[in-house]
Amino acid sequence: MAVVNLLFALSVALTTAALPSPSPAPVDARDLISIPDALTTAPWYGAPENNFSCSSTTHPNPVVLLHGLSADDQVDLNLLQIYLNKLDFCTFSLTYGAHTLAPWIGGLKPLADSAVEIADFVREVLDKTGASKVDLVGHSEGGVQALYVPRSQPGISDVVEHLVALGPAMHGAEYYGFTDLWYIGGNVTRDAVALVLKTVGCAGCDDLAVGGETTKELNDGNPVVQPGNKATIIMSTNDKLVPPEKSIVDEEGVRNILVQDTCPEDQLGHAGLAWDTGVWGLIVNALTEDYDAPVTCDTGLTF
Ligand SMILES: *[C@@H]1O[C@H](CO)[C@@H](O)[C@H](O)[C@H]1NC(C)=O
Ligand SMILES: *[C@@H]1O[C@H](CO)[C@@H](O)[C@H](O)[C@H]1NC(C)=O
Repeated sequence: MAVVNLLFALSVALTTAALPSPSPAPVDARDLISIPDALTTAPWYGAPENNFSCSSTTHPNPVVLLHGLSADDQVDLNLLQIYLNKLDFCTFSLTYGAHTLAPWIGGLKPLADSAVEIADFVREVLDKTGASKVDLVGHSEGGVQALYVPRSQPGISDVVEHLVALGPAMHGAEYYGFTDLWYIGGNVTRDAVALVLKTVGCAGCDDLAVGGETTKELNDGNPVVQPGNKATIIMSTNDKLVPPEKSIVDEEGVRNILVQDTCPEDQLGHAGLAWDTGVWGLIVNALTEDYDAPVTCDTGLTF
């Protein structure tokens, strides 16, 4: 559908819906659910299909990828997924926390609700692949979920091994620039996402903010990482949205890594954590526990 129609539909929804209630807006949902053309034609769009027949002789744990706030399974860790597939990892992804009015924009629901969706997906991957454990890799809100799901969902910490979180807002984000991710579709998708957020609300945003429900829960004084789970937090000194002091998990056994310790020239920002070959190398090293293997440093996206 034409992007102009989408924007028009969203404008109608905006003027008629009560804000910021996530209750269904009086607007033709068919107009909202379409992904803008400008996004799907962007070179960075698209993830491999989940292939539950996948098996790997070198990496027994399937890797479940968890996108960030306002992103989805097709935009965010999708290029990492392709990269991991080339290295013989089996990967799986889902869009979690999406509103029915805009199923292409994930992570908006309360984190506790999304955690149930993610736990169900982990069980589905285990069932269908026959693997005994998965690894979780998440970016931003997805990074928080990589730590929060094993902590909050019954039985999950027993069936995950490696947890990798890229710039997770563990200690309360001041989180107003996340739609920068949608620069990849240009201003059109960025504006569309901003309008959808205003229309359907964003409980997930509140949960991740300073004083938000999930932030409080994760900082209640009990350990974040569960016994047997091997956690790596990957952060950038140039992350303005979720700086390292907001992401660090200061617990024994948790690896807290700055990209710049390995790649000093890389000026990547928060969104850039998803699309950086240096970060991809650090992720692979965490999954293989070959922590000092060389990585291909990148210059990084600064936003
Ligand atoms: C899924 O994986 C199996 C096993 O590796 C392979 O034979 C099959 O072609 C894959 N299917 C798709 C759609 O890629
Ligand atoms: C996108 O929006 C920014 C800020 O509003 C503006 O400076 C820029 O020119 C716009 N880009 C395009 C391609 O329209």
